[in-house]
Amino acid sequence: MLRILFLGDIVGEPGRRAVIDSISRFKQERGVDFVIVNGENSAAGRGITPKITIDLLRAGVAVITTGDHIWDQKDIVPFIDTEPRLLRPMNYPPDTPGHGSIVLDTPKGKVAVANVQGRTFMQPPLENPFLALDAEIARLREQTPVIFVDAHAETTSEKIAIGRFLDGRVSAVVGTHTHTQTADEQIFPGGTAFLCDAGMCGPVESILGREIDPIITRFLTNRPILYPVAKGPVKLHGAIIDIDETTGRALKIERVADLYEPPAPAPGPGNPKA
Ligand SMILES: [Fe+2]
Ligand SMILES: [Fe+2]
Repeated sequence: MLRILFLGDIVGEPGRRAVIDSISRFKQERGVDFVIVNGENSAAGRGITPKITIDLLRAGVAVITTGDHIWDQKDIVPFIDTEPRLLRPMNYPPDTPGHGSIVLDTPKGKVAVANVQGRTFMQPPLENPFLALDAEIARLREQTPVIFVDAHAETTSEKIAIGRFLDGRVSAVVGTHTHTQTADEQIFPGGTAFLCDAGMCGPVESILGREIDPIITRFLTNRPILYPVAKGPVKLHGAIIDIDETTGRALKIERVADLYEPPAPAPGPGNPKA
């Protein structure tokens, strides 16, 4: 049995710190073999940098998926071809930098991870995700039956359709992008584990990881406004999926919604009250 931990969109420094501090605990206490995270909002809520990519990989993350925010940090464009464990959605046009999938060797056999972006209420409009998946999953299945798909999309219908479309061909389809965890985890008849949205790794007292008041002001005024990443305790949202590595079939899927409290600052000259 192979146990995969997937964590949804990491939001800014609070999300990064919570994930980096928690990976070894998940591996030790919950027997996780392979960790996948969505990092599209890990750099101050917008995109991901080369340094953050390296920090997450060093902490024990095996593969980082992304989504519509992949290009928000300019220095990711020349970097992405140098780090195949950082994925961008597969349904970009040919010759786009980076890759939409990867196959990695593990002590329990080869594990494939694929990343696709939906088209309903999403920008930019990418190629048809169903057609892109059809071709890519066939290619990956020649190498391994253990395939995890991050379906980065806005609507529940598109994500459920992707899950049903891939049932029996991949081990798991988990959605990202909305930052709000759904409660529909299940294993489809063909053996594919599914969760419509993993949720986020971001501050609890927030709106999708951002400070509450600026977002409400934006809705009240319809004018652009800065909305910084919120602070405080973080929820680590995602799923743990058990897979029979010989067949690729999912055996179990369980949602993760763990509270992470940042450690209190150490006492010192700059922090007399701590
Ligand atoms: Fe996101
Ligand atoms: Fe997104």
